[in-house]
Amino acid sequence: MKPYWRLLLLLPAVLLTAGAGADAGSLTPMAQLGKIMYQDLDFSYNGTQSCLTCHHHSAGFADPDNRRDPYTSVVSVGADGVSKGGRNAPSAAYAGYSPVLHWDAAADGYVGGMFWDGRATGLVLGDPLAEQALGPPLNPVEMNMPDDDAVVQVVRDSAYASLFLQVFGADALTDVPSAYNNIGRAIAAFERSDQVQKFTSRFDRNQLTAAEQRGAALVAQNCAQCHSTAPAPDGAKALFTNYGYVNIGVPANPLLAGNPTDLGLGGFLEGDYRSAAPLIDDADFAAQYGKFKVPTLRNVARSAPYGHNGFFPTLREVVDFHNTRDVAAWPAPEVEQNMNTQDVGDMGLTSLEVDDVVAFLMSLTDDLKMQP
Ligand code: HEC
Ligand code: HEC
Repeated sequence: MKPYWRLLLLLPAVLLTAGAGADAGSLTPMAQLGKIMYQDLDFSYNGTQSCLTCHHHSAGFADPDNRRDPYTSVVSVGADGVSKGGRNAPSAAYAGYSPVLHWDAAADGYVGGMFWDGRATGLVLGDPLAEQALGPPLNPVEMNMPDDDAVVQVVRDSAYASLFLQVFGADALTDVPSAYNNIGRAIAAFERSDQVQKFTSRFDRNQLTAAEQRGAALVAQNCAQCHSTAPAPDGAKALFTNYGYVNIGVPANPLLAGNPTDLGLGGFLEGDYRSAAPLIDDADFAAQYGKFKVPTLRNVARSAPYGHNGFFPTLREVVDFHNTRDVAAWPAPEVEQNMNTQDVGDMGLTSLEVDDVVAFLMSLTDDLKMQP
């Protein structure tokens, strides 16, 4: 037997052991607990939905139902099987790098927070991702639980109650508000783990084809102002978002007809935030109308449809829109105010260049299998 042939025989065994080792070691007890709760159907009132339902690994941690049918199914359906929100489910992966919502003088805009409009600010728990996780279980158009007490009771009654106490302390299920906050913290720990934020795409492994490399260069030139290509704050590879807010003029989605105009960040700031945390007392709310959080481009090939309201069924269309909004026949923007006309709208990319950009976006897909 030739030596290299023997090596080939050994290879699968080596890969298997390496894989198993990485799994076992990669989750902290808190992340392990969060992973269980992320998938717990009992966090919905009728036992039909978990976070995973709308943020599934197969869809890049976005909604797999929408992914299957991006032309007609553009927003998630709630646990009752009927209710729909007005927004497209973004990926729960790579969201955890978003800082607490704040005004960034250098960027001359708001940065951070969770959700398309930033309303899970992070100001309460110091962590927008943990704060975000506390929303869906109680949201009537999502998991629809009656109150935080009911969710904590699910944990008390669960098989993982002892793990919860091990992670957060012997009294951790007594006081409901603090137990509920810890549920958010554990789920966030899982979402930030390397089972969700994997950094295993071909881009991460430096395995780009020639077309993808051309696309990478075009993205660095034309997209990075918003979909940042700089390394993440912890030195990880690019996250393809600066977590800022921009109105790129996405048209209203006719499939959501009847919904009120979505003012995004401005609508949120004007409503809840002023009373919750008067950090932006004298801000001009109208200057934020129509702005939505810049989404990550990681795993974007799996998370159709695109845009806050799912207006674009395909990647090609959303890139075309950025490129030709002002020079081709697109429907009017949902919100006319504050539209960015400097960086998007007339990028001048040729059709072949758009092909390369889309090819590059498709290289950003991680190995999306869920580890047991
Ligand atoms: C019924 C579907 C549904 C369920 C269930 C659901 N989500 Fe979401 N999720 C959404 C939608 C829709 C949005 C966007 C809403 C918005 O921006 O107003 C969202 C937003 C998010 C975001 C924000 C990402 C970002 O970049 O801003 C995260 C993180 C997230 N969800 C995690 C979770 C977790 C954790 C759970 C379980 C506790 C959960 N979701 C349950 C549909 C769902
Ligand atoms: C001026 C900032 C800006 C620039 C430049 C920009 N984008 Fe975006 N992009 C956004 C914002 C903001 C959204 C979300 C808008 C919304 O839904 O209202 C978005 C959405 C997207 C989406 C949809 C993602 C999803 O999950 O829904 C893709 C894909 C995308 N951009 C790709 C690109 C590419 C490729 C380029 C360069 C050719 C580019 N963008 C340039 C701000 C920008």
